[in-house]
Amino acid sequence: MCGIFGIISKHSYELKQALQRLELLEYRGYDSVGISTLDKNKLNVYKSVGYIKTLYDKISSKKSKNIICHTRWATHGNICEKNTHPHHIGKVCIVHNGIIDNYKDLIKSLNLKDKLISDCDSEIIAQTIDRQFFINGVSMSSFIDAISLLEGSYAILAQVQDCEKCIYGVKNKSPLYVGKMEAGYVFSSDLIAFQGLIKEYYELNDGECFIANGQKITFFNMYNIQIEKESIEFKDFDYSSSKGEFGSFLEKEINDIPQALCNTLFHYKNSTHKIPDLKEYKQIHIIACGTAYHSACIGKYIIENLLKIPCTCHIASEFLFQEILTDKNSLFIFISQSGETYDTLQALLKVKDLGYKTLGITNTTHSQLSKICNYCLPIYAGKEVSVASTKVYNCTILAIYFLCKKKDIDIDAKLLTDLIKSNKEDELAKEMCKSSTVIFIGKCEDYVSAMEGVLKYRELTYRNAISYPCGELKHGTLSIIDKNTLSIAILTQEKYANSIFTAINEIKTRNGKTALITTLDVPKDTADYIIKLERKKNMPINLYSIIPFQKLAYKSCNILNLNPDRPRNLAKSVTVQ
Ligand code: G6P
Repeated sequence: MCGIFGIISKHSYELKQALQRLELLEYRGYDSVGISTLDKNKLNVYKSVGYIKTLYDKISSKKSKNIICHTRWATHGNICEKNTHPHHIGKVCIVHNGIIDNYKDLIKSLNLKDKLISDCDSEIIAQTIDRQFFINGVSMSSFIDAISLLEGSYAILAQVQDCEKCIYGVKNKSPLYVGKMEAGYVFSSDLIAFQGLIKEYYELNDGECFIANGQKITFFNMYNIQIEKESIEFKDFDYSSSKGEFGSFLEKEINDIPQALCNTLFHYKNSTHKIPDLKEYKQIHIIACGTAYHSACIGKYIIENLLKIPCTCHIASEFLFQEILTDKNSLFIFISQSGETYDTLQALLKVKDLGYKTLGITNTTHSQLSKICNYCLPIYAGKEVSVASTKVYNCTILAIYFLCKKKDIDIDAKLLTDLIKSNKEDELAKEMCKSSTVIFIGKCEDYVSAMEGVLKYRELTYRNAISYPCGELKHGTLSIIDKNTLSIAILTQEKYANSIFTAINEIKTRNGKTALITTLDVPKDTADYIIKLERKKNMPINLYSIIPFQKLAYKSCNILNLNPDRPRNLAKSVTVQ
């Protein structure tokens, strides 16, 4: 999964300008970066391993009217220049976002083995198009013939020698947008890259392709029949992505939590959202990935406690392979910060096909998720840039309270800000970075916070940690406890206290170090480290009990001197399987 951007225009653009746009897509992957131009019938390709900024020196002040570029999140082929896009084969240069599932079959059937110059599935696209153009000449029909051989997900932009004034493009199961400029077109995996550039855009459907030059664009379906497409007005939305006074987006976004919750609550109290009445359904299912899945798991407790309706949470990639055994009158809720996560969208399509009602909860109102679901409940957290999701998690939980029609919620921004600004976690973060294994434990909702705490810690520190329901420790995991392990328990409800204290004692007895994050008043010797969480009437603890974990991960990341915004191997929006 990757980000692609392109420009075809009557005027020249600096390559630097294209890369600045591409930087807005860097959340989609940042393993390596490449750009190519087609000038005087010559393809020029520049590549670099690492962040987009590493390419600026190589392109100096070069300009072109025909540019495509790509930021990569490696799936096939390791991270090196030869696997970096654009892939230049013969007369063709392509950038690709997606996965070509049948690339191995194509290597065999088209006899490409000795012609390959990379290990990347995407190269096969360039090989296939170049071959088809060679056999049948450069035309839309040859382009479509080549694309028809591909199976999988793809958004592709292609430059072709002898066709200097044009860019070809096609989309299937990966996002691709076309922006209309005064003298040409821009292409991008996400509308975000069009800000300030265009007033209208086209959204491609699966199986649609185009050829564009500086004056016009012509769309086709895969039967090579020309199709008309309506342009859509481009509304600049909140793209603000400044770190402000903070050293990283992650730090900023944790500090945004009080405001994000206040904004979300304000919108819910003051605007009318067309949402389903959950009480009309016999069963509720929530489907999501990563951090969104953890907010779903908290959601289950909220829905079952407040509405007494059975609720089941599913990891989207698992759900895709499961039988759906549920009452006909079930509601499926999909949670996704980006609204573009492949697994979540595939699960949504599966459920829609079966005719169930669907509701999307997302921070991205122009996303696929909000378009496909019957209902959409936006989250008003503001743009989240850092790969590790923080403020959207808190706001998603608020969205679920809203769905359950819980009215008496107040956000105490001061309490939250004090919690975020405090240094309570500093010593514990140091201990975490020294420990061989960190085990996060909790019960019920608190166990979900432990799971999310582990995800944040792994994402940001590259160190291993595990989460366990406290009662399960004795069924196997106690064996790993020794003086080098640190167990962090979270306890936000009196009714779970005995279980947590028992687990802490079992750990202490085996010389393990312990920490406790709690809303209760406990004796000082309960654990080696104690972090007190204040409670506030009408502010459900589920909205903010995760904050100490978010901070612990962030602080550990700082101690280890790692990049908080761009953790290695990850991407913010995963639009491939
Ligand atoms: C990626 C990100 C995670 C995120 C997950 C789901 O794996 O690295 O931080 O939680 O995708 O993303 P979504 O946009 O669907 O919430």
